Amino acid sequence: MPFEIDDLYQAYLKYNEFRKTNPPSFHDRFIFPFLAGSYFAYRKIDVMRVVAIAKSISSQPRYLDVGCGYGDFLQKVREFIPNAIGIEKNANMFYAFGIKKPDYIRIQGIESFEKEVFDVIFVGWMDPGIDFRKNVTKYTNCVITTFDAGGQCGINGQCDYEEYGFDRVACWITPSWIDVNYELMNKYYTSINHDIKKDLFKLRSAHNIWCIYARNEISNTVSEGLKSWIGLENKLSLNNERFDFESVLDDCGFEFCEEILKPTAKGKILWKVIFD
Ligand SMILES: C[S@@+](CC[C@H](N)C(=O)[O-])C[C@H]1O[C@@H](n2cnc3c(N)ncnc32)[C@H](O)[C@@H]1O
Repeated sequence: MPFEIDDLYQAYLKYNEFRKTNPPSFHDRFIFPFLAGSYFAYRKIDVMRVVAIAKSISSQPRYLDVGCGYGDFLQKVREFIPNAIGIEKNANMFYAFGIKKPDYIRIQGIESFEKEVFDVIFVGWMDPGIDFRKNVTKYTNCVITTFDAGGQCGINGQCDYEEYGFDRVACWITPSWIDVNYELMNKYYTSINHDIKKDLFKLRSAHNIWCIYARNEISNTVSEGLKSWIGLENKLSLNNERFDFESVLDDCGFEFCEEILKPTAKGKILWKVIFD
């Protein structure tokens, strides 16, 4: 259900009120994700993995972000894949927030997309009850999804692509913006005592899942491309390869390679790539 323009405008007014309080840097990304960030929390390492996957398929990959919003994640990808484009079916946000729509974002639903082929399609969201996987798979041999295991995804939570003839190549987990938002609220915007905060901290989860799917004929290429990137990743200095806003993730206990302590997720390690 797309946000109506009035709701978006009200959110925009609240966002401006919040900004006037001079909040700590980058908190707005995780409190107003649709206006100042994205609905999934990411680090530069996620962008670089996505780029590495696309470049394993082609040196000049054709890349599409479906439901890109105002393009927060897409802008980061475009630093490495300048021709990457996005489609977004709701133009209201550009009017409500008074921002110019970039040329590389087309206002359109994936269902009415004209025939065009992409090396990678990135799907950062499917509304509950909506399933546009059939449309996505018409235009690509490689799909990258990030979805919230909390149930924001498609019909009956179905977000995978095996039934469309794709192999799952690899997955990793990151905190969703909700995870980060809870931590921020508990830590900075709620008056609760220290012990309760500590107990709540132990309950933190991390439930955004990134999955890579590829058609059989390119799944080895994609898998090898990601593996060789991961090899390099380990050698990179993380401090040089990060966005400023990642400090909020560290502050909230979602550090790179942090183990999740919550009993139901015990042993899971943030950002660790698991190959199928
Ligand atoms: C929750 S937002 C996520 C936006 C952005 N990817 C982010 O993470 O901030 C989901 C977006 O998908 C768009 N959307 C939903 N269905 C779509 C469709 N069939 N085709 C294109 N965009 C769609 C919505 O309008 C909305 O902006």
